[in-house]
Amino acid sequence: MSKDKVQIFDTTLRDGEQVPGCKLNKGQKLVIAERLDTLGVDVIEAGFPVSSPGDFEAVAAIGRIVKNATVCGLTRAVENDIKVASEALKTAKRPRIHTGIGTSDSHIKYKFNTTREEVLERAFKAVKYAKSFVEDVEFYAEDAGRTSNEFLAKVCEQAIAAGATVLNIPDTTGYCLPSEYGQKIKYLKEHVKGIEKAILSCHCHNDLGLATANSIEGVIHGARQIECTINGVGERAGNTALEEVVMILKQHPYLNLDTGINTKELYGISQLVQEQMGVFAQPNKAIIGSNAFAHSSGIHQDGVIKNRETYEIIDPKDVGVTESAIVLTARSGRAALAYRAKNIGYDLTKLQLDDVYQNFLVFADRKKEINDTDIHQIIETSNVYQ
Ligand code: KIV
Ligand code: ZN
Repeated sequence: MSKDKVQIFDTTLRDGEQVPGCKLNKGQKLVIAERLDTLGVDVIEAGFPVSSPGDFEAVAAIGRIVKNATVCGLTRAVENDIKVASEALKTAKRPRIHTGIGTSDSHIKYKFNTTREEVLERAFKAVKYAKSFVEDVEFYAEDAGRTSNEFLAKVCEQAIAAGATVLNIPDTTGYCLPSEYGQKIKYLKEHVKGIEKAILSCHCHNDLGLATANSIEGVIHGARQIECTINGVGERAGNTALEEVVMILKQHPYLNLDTGINTKELYGISQLVQEQMGVFAQPNKAIIGSNAFAHSSGIHQDGVIKNRETYEIIDPKDVGVTESAIVLTARSGRAALAYRAKNIGYDLTKLQLDDVYQNFLVFADRKKEINDTDIHQIIETSNVYQ
């Protein structure tokens, strides 16, 4: 059975770059955009053109160099934003305008001081106006996570009636539980008139650490686009991490969902974004963290040395990591020491290994991690090796 395509909409250069300390200049944005295109994302959200002349320029420059992906620019439901975005996107082969408005009661009351009726009207007008410039218009219902499903369905109907091709359902504040977010998508699939004309998109924030789980629940319940960033960078606790949703769908083939992402590029682009933004992923970050394929406890090391599959659900090569690491610490066992010693040219007999291992433990209790130079020293100074 052929798999359903889930589009990957990357917003590293827009939502990701909004983060304090993550600001990128035009040159940096171009380098990342080129790599995103090679990675195989379907959409690159290049920026928010009306926000500054520099961002306008960057969106236009990205439009010029991107060969395959759709290039998207964000706007508010404001005519001038939309007009400016359409100008910035003139360089793109496949331009998309991403426009929208807050739909939750708190946004309607405190941000806009308006009514639901007015929001419906503004949503319709914004999409209609964007459609006068480009064919591909995505509508976002900001804070959809805290918007009642009934009202959200009405907003989506307005956006579709005005010509929206994609409906973005953001959990802007990262509030939803996975079951709740999944049910929201299901409700919209079942209740929005004309829903077959548009695809639903998940855009989840990570305030409760649920962005990835929510996005996956979204596609299980019928969404066909995920909005995400490399390394999960983004406002506050970040956005859904691209590398996580891509690998979840790959490692669970029975879901019958495919992203078409060239996964061997994941580690490289993660490193690139970390270097360019100057913000580094925590070591235990799933898929791309420095410990994601490192084994340090004796029991795990013994298993992995016998067969990688005992403790690894992903082949590191599939995400562009050369090989798993066997890290030597005081929790490591003989198998790991023998393995690392062999890698640097020592084929120890059982007797030699027993003796060297005792020296190793004394050394390892004093030092966090034992490197190749330490191994040389431990072996060369042991009695049975002389
Ligand atoms: O989180 C959000 O709601 C957004 C929208 C502007 C799409 O980033
Ligand atoms: Zn967002």
